[in-house]
Amino acid sequence: MTHKILILPGDGIGPEIVAEAAKVLECLRQEHGLDATLDYGLLGGCAVDTLGSPYPDETRRQARAADAILLGAVGGPKWERMDRPLRPERGLLAIRADLELFANLRPALLYPQLADASALKPERVAGLDLLIVRELNGDIYFGQPRGIRTLESGEREGFNTMRYRESEIERIARVGFEAARKRHRKLCSVDKANVLEASELWREVVERVAKDYPDVALSHLYVDNAAMQLVRAPKQFDVMVTGNLFGDILSDCAAMLTGSIGMLPSASLDANGKGLYEPIHGSAPDIAGRGAANPLATILSAAMLLRYTLNAPELAERIELAVGRVLDQGLRTLDIMAAGMTPVGTQAMGDAVVASL
Ligand code: IPM
Ligand code: MG
Repeated sequence: MTHKILILPGDGIGPEIVAEAAKVLECLRQEHGLDATLDYGLLGGCAVDTLGSPYPDETRRQARAADAILLGAVGGPKWERMDRPLRPERGLLAIRADLELFANLRPALLYPQLADASALKPERVAGLDLLIVRELNGDIYFGQPRGIRTLESGEREGFNTMRYRESEIERIARVGFEAARKRHRKLCSVDKANVLEASELWREVVERVAKDYPDVALSHLYVDNAAMQLVRAPKQFDVMVTGNLFGDILSDCAAMLTGSIGMLPSASLDANGKGLYEPIHGSAPDIAGRGAANPLATILSAAMLLRYTLNAPELAERIELAVGRVLDQGLRTLDIMAAGMTPVGTQAMGDAVVASL
């Protein structure tokens, strides 16, 4: 069966990095038996500019029809001051909600070649390999009521609502336990159960689901402690499962342990394995259009796409090994470069991966 891959380059550096990942997929198609079509669409600011919405109907149709989606990044200063419904981030939240992509997998894997790029001492992070499973369809991101209202005093108040239903907690907990089973059988659930009722329920449901996974060692941490532990001793973690907001914050923190957010891919999956794949980093408007961005996180996102949605682990591994080899060759983009090195550009990095495939 021919798989349909939808590519959404997005804004900022999005088109540049996605072009390199598309080269990699094209090479796999022509030379290594990947049976897929690549189609293109608009999401984010570019969609606002041309179609008047960050997640236009046309993109929705394409996204629903696709088996998997590869996204660059969305957003930029140009759209920051627009009305909330027209902001690029809304497009991202809308596609996550529309396709019910509730399970966000964010691995933080340190390439040994980049141990010196980490902000932490190399011995703290050498061999780091953790996976954050972030719930992506609920929590304060989507909870109603929300808004900005004017109080009787005339003062304005902004408000949002943190909510989690048992069924939402249960399905993400299961993703966490299943992932731990495929790795080192350790799951740490992160919440704020000492303060928040939503977290109290979270912990209770995770404990209940744990009964189905006696082979997985479950622990709990409050989110503030989890942030501290990630920086203090990150190698204690195997899989972490957490809600939308805590996962947003902790995954940026975990990403930086690996030296560069420019290296990390992610997957957002629905209940059937359909997924949206994107680098963890954003659209980096400050370096957009200069050919300086690191395309490896997007290329590695394409690898995740092949592994999780297309069930082609051998092709995924081919990409991952190729990335390892270009790092061995000493190729570095600006973000992962040590002092005294000469950086390569976005295209040169993509070409090197293709050559190494
Ligand atoms: C992420 C991003 C998004 C989020 C923004 C761009 C809406 O930070 O994917 O982590 O908060 O989920
Ligand atoms: Mg984030």
